[in-house]
Amino acid sequence: MRHRGILVIDYGSQYNELVARRVRQAGVYSEICSYQQAERELASGLVEGIILTGGPLSVYQEGAFPLPDCILASGLPVLGICYGFQLLSHYLGGKVGPLASAEYGNTAVKVTASSPLLSGVPSSFNVFMSHRDCVIELPRGFETLAVTAGTPNAIAADEGRHLYGVQFHPEVNDTENGQKIIENFLFEIVRAPRDWSMSSFIDQAVESIRREVGDGQVLLGLSGGVDSSVCAALLSRAIGKRLTCVFVDHGLLRKDEASEVVKTFSKLELNLRYVDASEAFFSALKGVEDPERKRKIVGKLFIDTFNAEAAKLGKVDYLAQGTIYPDVVESGMGGNSARIKSHHNVGGLPADIGFKGLVEPLRYLFKDETRELGLALGLPADIVFRQPFPGPGLSIRVIGEVTREKVHIVQEADAILRQEAARAGLDREISQYYVALTDMRTVGVKGDGRSYDYACVIRAVKTIDFMTAKPYRLPFELLTRIADRIVNEVDGINRVLFDCTSKPPATIELQ
Ligand code: XMP
Repeated sequence: MRHRGILVIDYGSQYNELVARRVRQAGVYSEICSYQQAERELASGLVEGIILTGGPLSVYQEGAFPLPDCILASGLPVLGICYGFQLLSHYLGGKVGPLASAEYGNTAVKVTASSPLLSGVPSSFNVFMSHRDCVIELPRGFETLAVTAGTPNAIAADEGRHLYGVQFHPEVNDTENGQKIIENFLFEIVRAPRDWSMSSFIDQAVESIRREVGDGQVLLGLSGGVDSSVCAALLSRAIGKRLTCVFVDHGLLRKDEASEVVKTFSKLELNLRYVDASEAFFSALKGVEDPERKRKIVGKLFIDTFNAEAAKLGKVDYLAQGTIYPDVVESGMGGNSARIKSHHNVGGLPADIGFKGLVEPLRYLFKDETRELGLALGLPADIVFRQPFPGPGLSIRVIGEVTREKVHIVQEADAILRQEAARAGLDREISQYYVALTDMRTVGVKGDGRSYDYACVIRAVKTIDFMTAKPYRLPFELLTRIADRIVNEVDGINRVLFDCTSKPPATIELQ
């Protein structure tokens, strides 16, 4: 542990990050680790309470993840959620078995006994259940606190030993009073201090960056995205001019994005090297239509340009990266959850420069905390709330060959969409939205003449994890206003289409 707080033991639930975030939202630090790492984390002396997450296995199944002895030996308060509750019960001699029929979704819970865990919680409320097993017999010393129609022990506790279990998921939005139950565990049972905030984080992070880097020089690749921008602002606060940021402009960014990044970071106390490499990118992309080839060309040229710029700097001691906590957890380094995606921030960067090490000051922050930190460091909201943008940029939002002219057309149309979405108050509500340019030309009338111009596509989606997505229902009046503005204001487009497919089977990007 890096800071005193709650240790979340990850038993493979898809909600493990959410559990840790809920704890942090309450102002208490939390970290996620696997059961194999629990002993080491406990040895830090900073753990004040433990949460065992849910998981997809049955406790009586071969290969089920165990409860390490160090958890109960620590004497710390424990809250088990779903599998975590069943595991705790199983370990202490209770009986866990399958339900007659699995309980899934909204379920009514009835409170049958009082407890500090349920302080201020009404006697019946709805919770989100997702389980096939339940605790049939509680271990000695435990008492039932609540039941559902199908679960004899929906909530239970051994108050004497500060051990608690809930069969449902208090961390998900669909559970009424879920945050209250988590906060009761934190403040009524663990009695944790509320000492986790972004302003306290800044002081600690600045101090630890200074300690780590000493008087060394640090290099950071700035993309203009949220993570690298916040990382730059934090490092600049800590080490000022000893940070050099290289911003490679491939000419495939959204309208005004490059100038905005340069303007923002020029104001900070750091060395900013802006490289306009657009000519090289457009000539490498000439005649290329295949989306995968475009990605490869942009990716390789980007790294080559970055490396060439870095080589000009002379001696650099550390390479900084805007890796955030979900990158760490999802690449399998945090806990036991399935390896969802590998993290490629490091891939291809200049190993031959001979860095002493990597600096990743956002490594323990969630995305929303990263944004909060960005605001606390004074970054503009336009950068902090920027929607995700793919590395290959507009090259994959121009179908077919990418030219400067087509990129200009799509930038102008996209700017209108963004402006109108913001005006309608939807810019933070839609997960990702953009305009892409098709390579289809259609006939239209403009003024008195016939036009034969490109059709563009508006894509707007709502998603949590970007693995699946639903089309966002833009109000029709808004859509038509955007379409009118695009065909009137952007030369080269005479038709606007709306993409209303879900992912899957479509993807979020068109290419
Ligand atoms: P898809 O199109 O796969 O997009 O549904 C899911 C998310 O990933 C982004 N994306 C990329 N990001 N390099 C990136 O850095 C890429 O090649 C790339 N392709 C897609 C996309 O914008 C969306 O947020």
